[in-house]
Amino acid sequence: MTMQTRIVSIKEGLDEAVELIKRGEVVVFPTETVYGLGANAFDGDAVRKIFEAKGRPMDNPLIAHIADISWTNDLAVDVSDGAKAVMNEFMPGPITVILKRSKNVPDEVTAGLDTVGVRFPSHSVARQFIMACGTPLAAPSANTSTKISPTSAQHVFEDMQGRVPLILQGGECEVGIESTIVDMTADIPTILRPGAITQDMLAKVLGKVKNFDGKIIVAKAPGMKYKHYAPSCEMVVATSARTAVEEYCRQKANGHSPVILAKSRYLEGIVGKFDFIDLGESDEDAMRNIYAAMHEAQEKYDYIVCQDFGEEGIGASIMNRVNKASGGKRI
Ligand code: TXA
Ligand code: MG
Repeated sequence: MTMQTRIVSIKEGLDEAVELIKRGEVVVFPTETVYGLGANAFDGDAVRKIFEAKGRPMDNPLIAHIADISWTNDLAVDVSDGAKAVMNEFMPGPITVILKRSKNVPDEVTAGLDTVGVRFPSHSVARQFIMACGTPLAAPSANTSTKISPTSAQHVFEDMQGRVPLILQGGECEVGIESTIVDMTADIPTILRPGAITQDMLAKVLGKVKNFDGKIIVAKAPGMKYKHYAPSCEMVVATSARTAVEEYCRQKANGHSPVILAKSRYLEGIVGKFDFIDLGESDEDAMRNIYAAMHEAQEKYDYIVCQDFGEEGIGASIMNRVNKASGGKRI
């Protein structure tokens, strides 16, 4: 099944995009985190098309994207005061809350769980599009299964060309990694996936927040058992700039074409010329640029040496993605 894939602006494409959703088709739309592959969350057959286009296993649930906090009432029941506080504080924005599902939500969205993920993106194109659809959109990241999440329309096009009819143009995603997922049905609210909204930020609203501990064996976010976000070339994390440079030289000597991914000042004071993709000055910059850098690196190089961003705040959120992409390899 191939079709022509077009990238259109919201101005020229809104009516057509809404029409596609109403007919039970899928549409790619930008969010502030990554691009999403959306379908009407209340139409199980439409949601199945997301899994087909992605090549994603059906036991991995999807997030329902809304255009107003009040839409939560159609998706969830027994919403706690804590959940309401989190939504009021951080929505619209890069966070997903896991709530007890309403019976309205088809199993295709929740993978049969008794919970549903709800997210209200802040990107103006996403808000306009979802509002015009008038229905929540179930959407995973708009990449084929196991590929890197897309942070530009061009990334989506390269990966999903022929599999989706329409991509709404929204420029480069400002946040750059997927939303923080917080399970508000747990006794103590629990972060299932770290993101731009950090544990500290949540703790200020909730008092107590558990961080997801990778050692738990029965993963609550089913997606965590799949290898995710992997570039097509090898990738390692360097514990210091010095080991990064050593590894770079070793790979070069072995006939590889390595590249270093790090923040602007990483190699300051180190003598020599190295192929380098600059992730910017701050952790926010690095978070925004990390996926695009992986996309670029896998096209031009065959070996990625990536900086360690540490264990604090959004550094930890970036490392969550980097560790997955590198399969946990450190030097
Ligand atoms: O930023 C984002 O969240 C992006 C944009 C498009 O909104 N979406 C995204 O979706 O990252 P996806 O499908 O790539 O990742 C969603 C994650 C999966 O790991 C899934 O297992 C988890 O959310 N998830 C969804 N519903 C869940 C639920 N009811 N309980 C636990 N985990 C859930
Ligand atoms: Mg994804």
